[in-house]
Amino acid sequence: MAETRTIGIFGAGWVGLVTGGCFAELGHEVIVRDVMPERIAALEAGRMPFHEADLPEVLERNRERIRYTLDADDLAEADALFICVQTPPTYSGDADLSYVWTALDHLPRVDRRQILVMKSTVPVGTGEKVRAALQARDLTEAGYVSNPEFLAEGHAVRDFLNPDRIVIGSFAEEDGAAVEALYDGIEAPVVRTDVASAEMIKLAANAFLMTRISFINEIANVCEAVGADVVEVAHGIGLDHRLGKHFLRAGIGYGGSCFPKDSLALKQLASNSGYHFQLLAAVIEVNELQKRRVIQKLQKHLGKLRGKKVALLGLAFKAGTDDLREAPSLVLASRLLAEGAEVRAWDPVARPGELMKGAVLSDTVLDAVRGADAAVIVTEWDELRGLASREVQEAMAHPLIIDGRNLLDPAEARSAGFAYEGIGRPSSPFEGLPETAEPEQRVSR
Ligand code: UDX
Ligand code: UDX
Repeated sequence: MAETRTIGIFGAGWVGLVTGGCFAELGHEVIVRDVMPERIAALEAGRMPFHEADLPEVLERNRERIRYTLDADDLAEADALFICVQTPPTYSGDADLSYVWTALDHLPRVDRRQILVMKSTVPVGTGEKVRAALQARDLTEAGYVSNPEFLAEGHAVRDFLNPDRIVIGSFAEEDGAAVEALYDGIEAPVVRTDVASAEMIKLAANAFLMTRISFINEIANVCEAVGADVVEVAHGIGLDHRLGKHFLRAGIGYGGSCFPKDSLALKQLASNSGYHFQLLAAVIEVNELQKRRVIQKLQKHLGKLRGKKVALLGLAFKAGTDDLREAPSLVLASRLLAEGAEVRAWDPVARPGELMKGAVLSDTVLDAVRGADAAVIVTEWDELRGLASREVQEAMAHPLIIDGRNLLDPAEARSAGFAYEGIGRPSSPFEGLPETAEPEQRVSR
């Protein structure tokens, strides 16, 4: 168990609340500060501002140790101040650090050492700039540590409490040691390094994960052209211990609050420094094209999409969250609407509102697919695993499933009477074959 410290958190967003809740779980006193009064009021009343598994329980269990406030001066008693504000992209692709600077403007004035800890993803060199800014504000007593988060939505609490590693970059040895001590009780390798390297570890880790996704998506596209099955291929690749099985799921492209913005920020950071990061530029482009391939698949089956009814099933950028930031569903919906299609949308938790203007939100999967010419699986929700049912087949005007996540078994979907297209899986050779012929034609696992 860690020695109890008081931890201040700037930003009651997704990262801030997971970080605060988990530090409280480790026994620390936590003060979470946000600028949104309605958010603070909701948290004080025990209401969650967004959907994240296990987080409500963690916050409730540690209620006694967590305080919420609008007043940054309440953070004066904190030993460490974690910056967890958003860092969205600007028009140039650079990360917008204005919220970080605002947080600095609100730092409480104290006459003892407080350590500022950067959890938000920031460009390499931010630590140096913050150090200079602290000095300019006469906050010479403040220490600075880069401690990037590697939390994936949907299991962020688990990722925080059981991390693959904890990365700590510091200017002063004692500040790094103090932040490391906050994590006592968590079993994980600790990478102690300089600030710039810690900042780069976060950006490079994300870029590498995205590279794997774009790589397998391109392999999927080639598989479609040559008649191989990317699910089999990924399985065969992933068993090589040098490669590993993770992040090899082909699909409709990555989205979310981190990957798209962090890839742009790293590309821009490189080019600001005079280097053209060619590979990353390709990774980003492949991802953009991948989101649009579903449209081509629909056109292949339906011809012109004008007046066609398309059900988008799953809207969140991945399962287990209601987050719509950079979700491929948004690109798909606006492309479909631009083609003149009617869009029905369903998601168990995500509520797009204005983000999906022109689309009709359905309460149930069955409502969404009723009379539809095609159903597109956009998010891999468990609720969609049984989509290839008799009920759905009868409800649809044209029983076509485009499976953007390779969630269904192609043979089962076809034998249930659907035309089926996955991503990177053979489709046309099997189209229209008698139902009984299909299982024998499948490549066995
Ligand atoms: C953000 C970044 O997007 C990510 O890159 C980084 O790694 C962690 O922080 P997230 O927690 O998902 O991710 O952001 P968000 O849910 O938007 O939360 C930010 C919170 O900070 C909001 O509640 C906002 O009101 C608050 N905030 C913002 C402040 O308290 N003060 C500010 O000046 C600005
Ligand atoms: C990611 C990182 O995993 C995390 O370490 C970082 O701190 C924040 O960004 P997150 O965005 O929550 O987390 O989700 P993640 O599970 O990594 O998925 C990102 C996107 O990639 C999703 O759209 C997902 O559907 C897609 N993805 C993931 C694939 O398309 N194929 C895969 O094999 C894995």
